[in-house]
Amino acid sequence: MEGAKMKKYRVAVIGTGYIGAVHCEQLLRLPNVMLAGVADKNPRLASEAAQQFGAEKIYQNAGEVIADRTIDVIHNCTPNNLHYEINKQALESGKQVFSEKPLALSAKESSELTRLAEKKKAVTGINFCYRYYPVVQEAAVRIARGEIGTVYNIMGNYLQDWLLYPTDYSWRLDASMSGASNIVGDLGSHWCDLAQFVSGLKITEVMAELKTILPVRKRPKNKETLTFSAATDSEYEDVKISLDEYCALLLRFDNGASGTFTTSELAAGRKCNIDLQVYGSESSLAWNHERSAELWLGHRDKPNQIFFESPNLQAPETRRFARLPSGHPMGYMDAILNLFRDFYQAIELKEEDKKPDFRLPDFQAGHEEMLILEAAIRSRESGAWAKIGSANI
Ligand SMILES: NC(=O)c1ccc[n+]([C@@H]2O[C@H](COP(=O)([O-])OP(=O)(O)OC[C@H]3O[C@@H](n4cnc5c(N)ncnc54)[C@H](O)[C@@H]3O)[C@@H](O)[C@H]2O)c1
Repeated sequence: MEGAKMKKYRVAVIGTGYIGAVHCEQLLRLPNVMLAGVADKNPRLASEAAQQFGAEKIYQNAGEVIADRTIDVIHNCTPNNLHYEINKQALESGKQVFSEKPLALSAKESSELTRLAEKKKAVTGINFCYRYYPVVQEAAVRIARGEIGTVYNIMGNYLQDWLLYPTDYSWRLDASMSGASNIVGDLGSHWCDLAQFVSGLKITEVMAELKTILPVRKRPKNKETLTFSAATDSEYEDVKISLDEYCALLLRFDNGASGTFTTSELAAGRKCNIDLQVYGSESSLAWNHERSAELWLGHRDKPNQIFFESPNLQAPETRRFARLPSGHPMGYMDAILNLFRDFYQAIELKEEDKKPDFRLPDFQAGHEEMLILEAAIRSRESGAWAKIGSANI
């Protein structure tokens, strides 16, 4: 924006734990954003974030942020049980809202938020960040232009090991904070979003096995246990676990394709292993987060290929996501930055009465994941296939 002064959106981040700090750091990389404030239930974390990322103000609580009319955009990085209320109040106060996933604790709540966002004409975003690796965007464009033919099968997994030991504990295992599911709402929502985004297909039915592998865990006493932090305390209390740590889904897609998805947080050695394989009538595509700059192109009658992310070789509409010269891999932080860029561009476009020509993960995408999650729980209970509920409930 040469000459003219660029508008800077005043942004506040609520929840400055693991992912809130990531949000703060990436917001600093955007020219049209200023980190106006942070809030956290834990004053130490809020003050550390304010200091580290140069936030103008530390708010006492979420309500104070929402009441501040100078704040344009809220990033909601609190635990799951707070997403609905904070998102709702932020929308009602006329702010644009970027929420962490899952969007809410139920499809009823996520549907309400989606309708409210429409009514308020708000720009919304949800952090399905894995879409934003350059070659993931490339895969979606290649499939949309028919490069692999008709999609027959979509398979994959999302595996981690941070809950392997009985002494590993997180609020994510507490139903009052996490919701009706731990792993389907967490890792499952990412993978299902990725599968739908890359293939351009919608999941219509699921058959689910959800499992609690360790029904009793040891929770550290007197400890602020942040996600992904290892417990070091010698004093623990036994706590019963009812939420899922493992899940396997059989999937049906709206073009007749079938799929399978497995996820576990007790898979020793797997840190953030997201694997997506799409098999078509002509060829196939595969992506794995542990080699996130590479897209595998599988052929029947010629040698397979590895396509490396590239600002020169990718489809023109995906080049803006590959912002380093070929051979310099981008990473997780860059994927989140790519998503934030699209989100803030969508806000700018809205102000010019224009619609984006890109597919931003918004509250509707968050709502779709809630519908899949609820179908998985229904299937676990009935032992039968469960249809994904209507997106308009
Ligand atoms: N998109 C992703 O890839 C991704 C990755 C990690 C986490 N997440 C999501 O982000 C959310 C937070 O997860 P996390 O791993 O950062 O958890 P965390 O426990 O590290 O951080 C949560 C923070 O929220 C704060 N908090 C709790 N109640 C609050 C309140 N009432 N007001 C203000 N702050 C409050 C806590 O003090 C803590 O600092 C979860 O919903 C999770 O699903 C998404």
